[in-house]
Amino acid sequence: MKIAILGYGTVGSGVYEILTSSSSACASRFHVHAVLIRKNKPKTLPIMVDDIEDILSSDVEAVVEAMGGIEPAHTYIKKCLEHKKHVVTANKAVVAKYMREFTALAKENDVSFLFEASTGGGIPWIHAIENVKRIDSIRQFHGIFNGTSNYILDHMYKDNAEFSDILKKAQELGYAEADPSADIDGFDIQNKLQISASIAFECYIPNTFPVFGIRNVTKTDIEFFKEKNRILKLIATAAIHDDTYHCSIEPRLYPLGSLEASVPENFNLASIHGVTIGDLKFYGQGAGKLPTANAVIQDLIDIIEKKAHAVLLDKDLNYHPSQRPASYWIRTKSMPLEQLPNITVKVHAYLGHTYYFIQGITTDQMHAIMQNIQQEDKHAFMAAWEEDYD
Ligand code: HSE
Repeated sequence: MKIAILGYGTVGSGVYEILTSSSSACASRFHVHAVLIRKNKPKTLPIMVDDIEDILSSDVEAVVEAMGGIEPAHTYIKKCLEHKKHVVTANKAVVAKYMREFTALAKENDVSFLFEASTGGGIPWIHAIENVKRIDSIRQFHGIFNGTSNYILDHMYKDNAEFSDILKKAQELGYAEADPSADIDGFDIQNKLQISASIAFECYIPNTFPVFGIRNVTKTDIEFFKEKNRILKLIATAAIHDDTYHCSIEPRLYPLGSLEASVPENFNLASIHGVTIGDLKFYGQGAGKLPTANAVIQDLIDIIEKKAHAVLLDKDLNYHPSQRPASYWIRTKSMPLEQLPNITVKVHAYLGHTYYFIQGITTDQMHAIMQNIQQEDKHAFMAAWEEDYD
């Protein structure tokens, strides 16, 4: 199959490397015809071009979009689909925003639009959701979907280190996004949760659910949680109930020895529950050049082998705040106790800081109160206490 690659950054160059490597089992099935780079960038390969028209007017059958960001990725993907070229992308931001438009365009033009690499890097997570759905209705899934934040939390715990020092290391190792706020504030995971939940629940899920990241976590917080035999992880959760869904992203505290607590370095762990299959957990590299490129190429092979992927987004579900009572640890100098009637609050002093244990509150209530707390105390932090293990 003749293909073109848009972008020659981490993922684009990884796809090129695998497809042109003599040790790769699939290389002979592909011919990389062109690589699109930005105008004014040096052309380091003879097949590099800087005008998308050169690709649109060529006879390439499939295009790998690996530019990242919204524009020009959105416009180029649309043009490729309109020119009846299959599109495979690793770009979670553009998929999360435009998956309905791309899916409809692909259908109209009788080509595929696939995005396995956008979520969970090398883990075959989108394929897994599709497989589970063939037999079971998916009621809930959750997971660690960001390698950078997991690396930071793992090393803060193991090295007894400060947040900023470990973030610097994650950036040096190439795990972090260009703007690390996407990793540490949960917005990278928000895109991935939107994509996963849309596929799982067959309804486009907008980015309007609660998100709280790990920007404010300190070495003292990690030590305090360690004394309680808990490890902090940044977790995305989605659940469906009748015609409503709930999604959230927040730091959660898992007991030592649990699978989530044991995920090291920049690995991801995605868990799904189906009625007949029970619990399934997928562990692997959620980021990085070759694992992500591997997921892109799996999609390309599916196109060659005509393996159908049904992207259904036609259900009409509404967001509904979670009704499940939950518990949270909050570190703040300014707890608005008047906003917590009928809620159990216990106060703990630790190394000059005040921690509050709040029980019997819902996720959406807690996130709303946390926003108020941060008006007064912008360094405040919260973590959900995972109760399934109590
Ligand atoms: N920055 C992302 C991560 C890359 O750390 O998981 C993969 O999406």
